[in-house]
Amino acid sequence: MNNTLFENSNSNIPIDETARQLYFCEKAAAHVKELAERLGRKPTCCVTTFGCQMNARDSEKLAGILERVGYEMIEDENADFVIFNTCTVRDNANQRVYGRLGVLNGYKRKNPHMKIALCGCMMQEPTVIEKLKTSYRFVDLIFGTHNIFRFAELLTATFEQKGMIIDIWEGTDKIVEDLPIERKYSYKSGINIMFGCNNFCSYCIVPYVRGRERSRNPKDILREIKNLVADGVVEIMLLGQNVNSYGKNLEEPMTFAQLLREIEKIEGLQRIRFMTSHPKDLSDELIQVMKESKKICRHLHLPLQSGSTRILNVMNRRYTKEQYLALAERIRREIPDIAITTDIIVGFPGETPEDVEETIDVIRKVKYDNAFTFIYSKRTGTPAAAMEQVPEDVVKVGFDKVLKTVQDTAREQVARYQGQIMEALVEEVNENDASLVTGRLSNNTLVHFPGDASLIGRIVEVSLDECHGFYYMGHMV
Ligand code: SAH
Ligand code: SF4
Ligand code: F3S
Repeated sequence: MNNTLFENSNSNIPIDETARQLYFCEKAAAHVKELAERLGRKPTCCVTTFGCQMNARDSEKLAGILERVGYEMIEDENADFVIFNTCTVRDNANQRVYGRLGVLNGYKRKNPHMKIALCGCMMQEPTVIEKLKTSYRFVDLIFGTHNIFRFAELLTATFEQKGMIIDIWEGTDKIVEDLPIERKYSYKSGINIMFGCNNFCSYCIVPYVRGRERSRNPKDILREIKNLVADGVVEIMLLGQNVNSYGKNLEEPMTFAQLLREIEKIEGLQRIRFMTSHPKDLSDELIQVMKESKKICRHLHLPLQSGSTRILNVMNRRYTKEQYLALAERIRREIPDIAITTDIIVGFPGETPEDVEETIDVIRKVKYDNAFTFIYSKRTGTPAAAMEQVPEDVVKVGFDKVLKTVQDTAREQVARYQGQIMEALVEEVNENDASLVTGRLSNNTLVHFPGDASLIGRIVEVSLDECHGFYYMGHMV
């Protein structure tokens, strides 16, 4: 649609993309300053995130720009600038956005200078844009996943142009480095290592809304991590829809395992996590690197989706039940203290109760430490949407059965460390009891124990005294 918001004929606008956006940060800052004078206070902003860790990281980029141009970040959506970073992986994510937009409209009626912006995966769907254009005219700015690096420029446009601004790109191969980022946590951070997805699982909308797979340059990744560590970060989470295919499209190809080896060398960095691993691309080299590493956490998220080879085939997952089981077994054998977690979909088109039994069989055999179980959601434009859907009541029966199995095995798995002493990274003061802090073990399990805010960001030894289903109560030793 609108690819050049501000014409390049204006000779002041830098050509380099990072410089261009920093230039627009200054322009937006002048507008925000003027607004502050009018209001007699610092204007406020709120960023609401839906969806996955990648969206959470994108929201930190939005927050970085907003703070840079002079907004004060608040949690309340009754703010001077509100942006929803949306998700469309399942329909309930979309419905939540429409519901919350109604509330924002109420705020804006009382506060007409309020600006409302929408971005993220849902905006890459043409039907969504049509709906917003006709029924949500009060929205000021809409952009998608491919041009988020242009946020400073788009924000400037909301001050200088009238009407709804819509800037959606169909794809991009651009990766823009070195823009401001405002981290949510001081001690941990997500890092994008790649964008997009090439797998086209038949139920999934992500490849359509996030575009083709592209890897970031290892030099840029390492530089970003070193800067984060210098700034107090001890734990990083490498992000990508399929980190196991990292590096394939680089000028000098590199494997994910090789990247991990380089990251391991960074002094001061203590913990490395990553998300998500596609089973079809998980190499023996990766298992070896994990096994030898002192920093890579004892946790692997390995989405199963279904335990039925027939369904896996229609899902286009490119592994069989047997291959998945063999892989999980190999990982457990090489790294016995690892926690394996997964994603499961129930109710994929054509799924029978026998298929669900196959899924349950895999859950029992792999013994997941935790699993996210989803009811299949039909996504327009994906191949599975055109297939015959399973009736809701049948899905419900299968879903409850899968959920129960998952909970039983997870409880057993989590409990296996009772009485042991392990390292926990202290993340926050406990929400319900201020005399406790919450820490995360290498295997991703949470432990609550007596302590105070001064421990946040530190790795401490904790005795795992009592297992309460999915978490521990403990004490520092
Ligand atoms: N790239 C990751 C997953 C990203 S989406 C991977 O391949 O593992 C996160 C999870 O949402 C998926 O693992 C899947 O379980 C679920 N999901 C994706 N599309 C879905 C749909 N149409 N209905 C229900 N769940 C879905
Ligand atoms: Fe979706 Fe499959 Fe890509 Fe994951 S790997 S994002 S499930 S298409
Ligand atoms: Fe949702 Fe987009 Fe992530 S669709 S799950 S926010 S990649």
